[in-house]
Amino acid sequence: MNTLKIKLVSFILLFGLGLFSVKAQEKIDQVEALLSKMTLEEKIGQLNLLTPGGGIATGSVVSNNVEAKIKAGQVGGLFGVAGPEKVRQAQKIAIENSRLKIPLLIGSDIIHGYKTTFPIPLGTAASWDLELIKKMAETAAKEATADGINWNFSPMVDIARDPRWGRIAEGAGEDPFLGSAIATAMIKGYQGTNLKKPNTMMATVKHLVLYGAAEGGRDYNSVDMGKVKMYNQYLPVYKAAVDAGVGSAMTSFNDIDGVPASGNKWMITDLLRKQWGFEGMVVSDYTSVNEMVAHGLGDLQTVSALALNAGLDMDMVGEGFLTTLKKSVEEGKVSEESITQACRRILTAKYNLGLFNDPYLYADESRPEKDILSQENRKLAREAARQSFVLLKKHENVLPLQKSAKIALVGPLANNKNNMLGTWAPTGDPQLSVPVFEGFKNVAPKAKIKYAKGANITNDPDLAKRANVFGTRVEIDERSSETLLNEALKLAENSDVIVAVVGEASEFSGEAASRTNLSLPESQKRMLTELSKIGKPMVIVLMSGRPLTIEDEFALPASILQVWHAGIEAGNAIADVVFGDYNPSGKLTATWPRNVGQIPVYHSMKNTGRPIEADNFQKFKSNYLDVVNTPLFPFGYGMSYTEFGYKNLKIQKSQIAQMEAVEILVDVTNTGDFDGAEIVQLYLRDVVRSITPPLRELKGFTKVFLKKGETKTVKLTLQPNDLKFYNGALEFVAEPGDFEIFVGTNSQAELKTSFKLN
Ligand code: NOJ
Repeated sequence: MNTLKIKLVSFILLFGLGLFSVKAQEKIDQVEALLSKMTLEEKIGQLNLLTPGGGIATGSVVSNNVEAKIKAGQVGGLFGVAGPEKVRQAQKIAIENSRLKIPLLIGSDIIHGYKTTFPIPLGTAASWDLELIKKMAETAAKEATADGINWNFSPMVDIARDPRWGRIAEGAGEDPFLGSAIATAMIKGYQGTNLKKPNTMMATVKHLVLYGAAEGGRDYNSVDMGKVKMYNQYLPVYKAAVDAGVGSAMTSFNDIDGVPASGNKWMITDLLRKQWGFEGMVVSDYTSVNEMVAHGLGDLQTVSALALNAGLDMDMVGEGFLTTLKKSVEEGKVSEESITQACRRILTAKYNLGLFNDPYLYADESRPEKDILSQENRKLAREAARQSFVLLKKHENVLPLQKSAKIALVGPLANNKNNMLGTWAPTGDPQLSVPVFEGFKNVAPKAKIKYAKGANITNDPDLAKRANVFGTRVEIDERSSETLLNEALKLAENSDVIVAVVGEASEFSGEAASRTNLSLPESQKRMLTELSKIGKPMVIVLMSGRPLTIEDEFALPASILQVWHAGIEAGNAIADVVFGDYNPSGKLTATWPRNVGQIPVYHSMKNTGRPIEADNFQKFKSNYLDVVNTPLFPFGYGMSYTEFGYKNLKIQKSQIAQMEAVEILVDVTNTGDFDGAEIVQLYLRDVVRSITPPLRELKGFTKVFLKKGETKTVKLTLQPNDLKFYNGALEFVAEPGDFEIFVGTNSQAELKTSFKLN
């Protein structure tokens, strides 16, 4: 570079830095100026998120006298309020009637799309497509901000290795590497590059920490985990979110080493703020401060003080902060400085969102019409759904179907709008979703399609009742099971092919929806068994919010397509895949066990001191008497209408130095009869190290599109951090020695190479 260029670059850099620090200083000045005017009561007031009720909320709490509280400066944000008019009205009360005119945060759960509902997160994760995931988050932000929301309680990044836990549906699955990449993409999508833009919103990483490891998969249950496992397997996702610049973090319901997350100083202050450098605000989960009373840590005043002293900034709907903190200050249990600090973080978040400049930034009445549920958004939902589907089994090339086929479309989910959106889609309208029957008619208008319900989702009235809290998801038909079944069998006999759409109701998964039996309900199992006896080609389209145990169905002569709960465009997207307009390419991001007794089963398990070989039972080895160790479908698994071959795995160097990246090349060929995409995966094994290593861990992936017959050389790069782990002293290190690399189509890939780290 010549000197002129150097001068120019330095000038730009300095100018940029200067601008940056002027802006940062402005923010500090404005927030501090405001803080200096606030009374203790007003500062405490900012630490409360209240819900006026009538909106969308997960719990039963409704705050009283919200309007009066806003006027009195006792509210920092609202939850469960939507629509630009309502939001304008709420902001107006704060701006025109409260002493300091501080605008409100307007929070909501936009988990998989706002009104344009995308597939459940476990489904979109199966696309392994970070650009697509980011685009969905951007679209969700555009729709939600058009409706007045400026703060989103997403992404949920909790690593989940227990499919009994209903909330596995809400996250990206079992793996920290993939989970971190997805969390980053979602945060970038929600927040954009400038939070002050009216179409971006503040994201919340949740639930810190370890919520997905609840004992027995029972929601809200205790977690007990050693630090080495925590740091290596469970914490990286939250840290990745912090590194991606997430604006807020939500504490979890569970305890960690005996202290619930919302009162856990080690977690909030030492780990999140000091070790990871998080500068944003921390909000509790819904009444999780109050719940520390039931956890057994004291009365409301005690637990509220515990939470504040731990570093929690905002109390979600519990009003423990509002009603007890002043007393705690007076009694010397909480310092005013800690309250000022929590308030400072909340005001800073409001500043970052641009609310001090314009409190009505997110209350533009002209936006909903153009930004919400547009054709473009629905198109994205269809694309996302197609990419989320996982072909679990191919039977005799039944799929894809001819568009002229005579089809018996059967099953309780085949013509059902109420279960398409999936769990935690309270802002979506099930009536706007496309059921499978309609999608089939749209995509294959010439096919002769007849529908019969065939079975109830379940015949168990208690289960049905529990799944119906958000509307009717499970209807038990007035007709008898025999009548339903016979109708389906009759249709099947008179058709070329059977498509059975079965699975879970959407509220069989999600919050407070844990199950101990992960099979299909008996009603549906019976229908499938009887249908399979007819001897017609059969396709099972399986909907669920989690991995299910489907060994019996796997043994039936049928192809199986896993479609999760696919969102507003479910039916169209399923038809696209079933009729071959789109070749499925999704891969599982959580292992599917053979039975519940195998749980937990995941790809990064350890060898143990007594491993077995090739699923052969051996006495005094680490295995079961009654089931093999391998799962039904491993992590990363998913088939395609075509086949892919892997060859020529090469590593750029066989010896590498510390802090050196290394490139890996592999030839992937589409050897089948359809064009299609393949998700190429790289797994790493650290052969010997100071802490027992997992057998393999995902450390790279890429999605490649190949025309039939085409070969591409795919490049994957291992970064220096990919070789590191937290050792016994919790230092993040790469230990010299041998590493093995496996590349292929799922976590059981066998193509292997190795290198040495010096
Ligand atoms: C409880 C859930 O755990 C959390 O994820 C959600 O954000 C809050 N309820 C608010 O709905």
